[in-house]
Amino acid sequence: MIKPEVIEQIREETDIVALVGSYLPLKKVGRNYRGLCPFHSERSPSFYVSPERQSYHCFGCGAGGNAFTFIMAYEKVDFPEAVKILAKRLGIKVAETFSYGNQPLYEVLELVARFFEENLTKSIEAQSYLKKRGLSRATIKRFRLGFAPAGNLLRGAGKKLGVSEEHLLRAGLLFKKENGLIDYFRERIVFPIFSPSGKIIGFSGRVLDDSEPKYLNSPDSPVFHKGEILYGFFQAKGYIREEVPILVEGNFDLLSLVERGINNVVAPLGTALTVNQALLLRRYNRQVFLCFDGDEAGEKACRRTIEVFLRAGVEPQIMKLPEGRDPDSYIREAGIEGFSLLMRQAVDFVDFIVGMKRGKTVGEKRGVISELAGLVRIMSDETARELFANKIAQLFQINRHLILSGDSGERLGPDSGKEQRGVPVSLNRGIEEKFVAAASQDKNLAQIARELKLSEMVEDECLKRIARLIENHYDKSGFGLALLIDMMEDEADRSRIAQWAFTETNLPKEEEFRIRLQRFRARWLHRQIEAAHRAGKEKEVESLAREREVLLKDVVKKEG
Ligand code: UTP
Ligand code: MN
Repeated sequence: MIKPEVIEQIREETDIVALVGSYLPLKKVGRNYRGLCPFHSERSPSFYVSPERQSYHCFGCGAGGNAFTFIMAYEKVDFPEAVKILAKRLGIKVAETFSYGNQPLYEVLELVARFFEENLTKSIEAQSYLKKRGLSRATIKRFRLGFAPAGNLLRGAGKKLGVSEEHLLRAGLLFKKENGLIDYFRERIVFPIFSPSGKIIGFSGRVLDDSEPKYLNSPDSPVFHKGEILYGFFQAKGYIREEVPILVEGNFDLLSLVERGINNVVAPLGTALTVNQALLLRRYNRQVFLCFDGDEAGEKACRRTIEVFLRAGVEPQIMKLPEGRDPDSYIREAGIEGFSLLMRQAVDFVDFIVGMKRGKTVGEKRGVISELAGLVRIMSDETARELFANKIAQLFQINRHLILSGDSGERLGPDSGKEQRGVPVSLNRGIEEKFVAAASQDKNLAQIARELKLSEMVEDECLKRIARLIENHYDKSGFGLALLIDMMEDEADRSRIAQWAFTETNLPKEEEFRIRLQRFRARWLHRQIEAAHRAGKEKEVESLAREREVLLKDVVKKEG
């Protein structure tokens, strides 16, 4: 275990400019330093290092973090190893045994994965199932597939594996029933889910027959957040900068493509794709192929997913599978040639939606146009927005301004029902992010965020975690971006924070921040009050309303 004081000392004594500068040439530009990004190939420099905030960020590939994460990424080592390397530079001695953050939980998951792997070698039935599904040993090994036997063998094996029941409970691998603890996965093929950096953070399990539910995922835990990772991402990571990633729906679809040498594949974990998952992919590629099942459900999911990617600034190309096929069954029939042909025939979202609905009457056409216009308007890239607006205008022989401006849209796509009334997801997210970004960089703002319970109001899961960290640590010495980056478990979270050192530099004054946050809270309380009212919780309505009243009085007083 490295003492926190030692890590603290290393953080304080390391200068990120000198550190990064010893790996690559940096040039001073304004308050920051700039160079060619070591994490992707580029000709003009978009990699920035901030001496004030002791962090770095690449505007090209999205990589970012602090001194520790730089070493981790550059030297391809884990956190303890990075600490050692930095300590050595500074001549600081660190103890040899390490444990940090959630490492015990990672260890538990790793040991359990081995347990499942071993049980696969013992089960003829499970092995023959995988063989029937066409998976080779190499793929099974690479994705570390395993088998969870019947009975409560994992619970029983805990001692031998060296993991406590409490840990297994925390990882969601055991659960409580009236008469004791039960294995979460029983008689299922298990698919370990890897974090982007390759640690096992959870599992999916599939039954061997056609009983229900077909798939189970282990529940979210301190290290496992389903909406933020993709199945197969870790294995695909090395391929998807060069090759456009392919998103499929099912775990077996993914493995079946991998089996045939297509390595640039990822899959969501059985739920609708989230913006965070899209943003994760975007750090590697601004394009994606969608290859959804050839049925009505697949088509629906595809439309929803298009919207999420466009919001995230990723351009989807849609592959159309024949009716009744999924990527797994299709590639078995048509082979890799057939599959490649489908990729070449992929269409953009405009052609996909027009092809699907092809309006005949003016009314129908208006509907299609307004759906397309809604999608164009959520695109973050201006050039892409222009190009698609032109395309739609030409297609329907209308004026392109109708698409870019005005209110021809009934608003967005199929997901809009889930949005907060009147506030599109992306907008609210933007506001949330501004608050969290500001609070993460200034102790006094952080204190205000804590007073006004920012984390409670933030909806985005990743931002919520950051807000909680801010509220719990605002009074630590050295509070700031670099400290928070260290506390984040997740690579994607860390990059997100690091980026703020360059994008959110105009921090608001304290008073202004307070008033804005108070107003934000008042609006939030308003929604909570309505919800509590609908649920008939009148006591709660009362106390929420009281808080809101006090808040508004204060705002009014300050604004005169
Ligand atoms: P599918 O049923 O299409 O999966 O669901 P699949 O991979 O094609 O299934 P098989 O194994 O070939 O029959 C797509 C994905 O949705 C999630 C899983 O992640 C699955 O891979 N899912 C499906 C669940 O989470 N629960 C379910 O009960 C079914
Ligand atoms: Mn399927």
